[in-house]
Amino acid sequence: MKQLSKVLVVDYGSQYTQLIARRVRENGVYSEILPWTASASEFETSAPSAIILSGGPNDAGEKGAPTLNNALLRLNVPILGICYGMQLLALHFGGTLVNGKNREYGQTKLKVSDGCLLWKSVPPNTTVWMSHGNHVKTLPNGFVSVAQTAAVGIAAMANEDYKIYALQFHPEVSHTSHGMQILRNFLFEIAKLERNWNMGSFIDDTVAKCRERVKDSNVLLALSGGVDSTVVAALLHRAIGEQLHCIFVDHGLMRHGEAEEIVSMLYQCMPKLKLQLVKAQDLFLQRLVGVEDPEAKRKIIGKTFIDVFEKQALKIPNAKFLAQGTLYPDVIESSSVNGVVIKSHHNVGGLPKDMKFELIEPLRELFKDEVRAMGSEIGLPEDVIWRQPFPGPGLAVRILGEVTAHRLSILRRADNIVQQELKKSGWHRNIWQGFAVLLPLCTVGVMGDARTYDNMIALRVVDSVDAMTADWTRLPHDIIASISSRIVSEVNGVNRVVYDVSSKPPSTIEWE
Ligand code: XMP
Repeated sequence: MKQLSKVLVVDYGSQYTQLIARRVRENGVYSEILPWTASASEFETSAPSAIILSGGPNDAGEKGAPTLNNALLRLNVPILGICYGMQLLALHFGGTLVNGKNREYGQTKLKVSDGCLLWKSVPPNTTVWMSHGNHVKTLPNGFVSVAQTAAVGIAAMANEDYKIYALQFHPEVSHTSHGMQILRNFLFEIAKLERNWNMGSFIDDTVAKCRERVKDSNVLLALSGGVDSTVVAALLHRAIGEQLHCIFVDHGLMRHGEAEEIVSMLYQCMPKLKLQLVKAQDLFLQRLVGVEDPEAKRKIIGKTFIDVFEKQALKIPNAKFLAQGTLYPDVIESSSVNGVVIKSHHNVGGLPKDMKFELIEPLRELFKDEVRAMGSEIGLPEDVIWRQPFPGPGLAVRILGEVTAHRLSILRRADNIVQQELKKSGWHRNIWQGFAVLLPLCTVGVMGDARTYDNMIALRVVDSVDAMTADWTRLPHDIIASISSRIVSEVNGVNRVVYDVSSKPPSTIEWE
């Protein structure tokens, strides 16, 4: 097989590290991230065709600040240092830094020098995004300054013989007007990489690797109908066909008609998929009787899920592997240099400790939008690919207070109206999530001439890019109005609807 061009992004703690890796992939070149603390042998094993050193929050040269591992230089491939990465390169090769009196934050004008390959097709005066305190004061031996700003004499430097380049600004962010062009110049003009990363070849490669690893064993997969597990199912189905055994635990906490829709969609896409649907609503509801505390609910649901899954899994012979839809951001977060707290949302509440499976994680190199692209390439329908995120514990965390069959049915009907109206107006494609929440209190109303004392529904609609932060959607008033009037007139037991106008933080998207 042809050698895949690969860019190694070394993470020094910048908030933009993942963005750098994505930008490289958007250009058809595979990229991976390693923390600066990785060992020499990890860097060697990565065997990149070029290296990008990320920015970072520290001051280079300060005691305890992240350093440049010599192993990276020994790889003898083109290097691009960004911001903190530039400072590390400057110090390493004998330059000096100055703690900027004229700190530059935000957009700034950059003047570039003629003749440097980094600036091919970049105008002589351009706008870039700066975010730094320190900058390079004196150039290291063998380097020349190739760009200036009003405040910084050496805003970019280059050693063309060693193919080492460095930028004080961030080319990866969209505020740098020719940032993508600058990255492309590094990838294709300087490092001479090939555009040989695309979804089709990645799928073929992953399918081949899975076949080789699984041989004649069986693989288990807990399917939830969400985009990640469905794409894993489709990919593994292509790779190993009937050796893949999917288990879909219907905990009875799905939205209106959802479990049936998911199963029929799966069979439509993959008629030969081995899929067991386990209907377990009674068991889940039984264990939730009298439980009001949100964390207690989550734990009970997680544990019950495992009990049901495990019982089913043990019936499948020769099951050596368990497949999971782990994505690249989860992988990176767990090895992050900043130790940022990882979101602890689990669909299945963790694996049973005594189940001895090897893990198969075919999406662990992909970002969410790449998973969607993969789903599309494999031929999954749009509805699956663009399905809203749905919490593992389902509607249980949208029913505040006790979960009962009656309250589930009220919420389901109200939520169904929300989904229908969002779809009808086309807003379902603009938002991150939109759903109904059943509150644990009744309020007074009047219907006809009679007093009512009934339940209240909160409507939660948010915009977000990654669910880490979110803002409430400015949904047009007429859509809110039709949702509200339909819920109150069509769902027995509800006499009031309110709209949630809180962002995350300080609120969260889900109410529990
Ligand atoms: P929060 O409420 O923390 O939610 O702002 C962020 C995103 O995560 C989803 N969510 C979950 N997803 N298992 C999941 O797979 C869970 O337990 C869970 N809880 C919340 C939520 O819908 C939102 O998209």
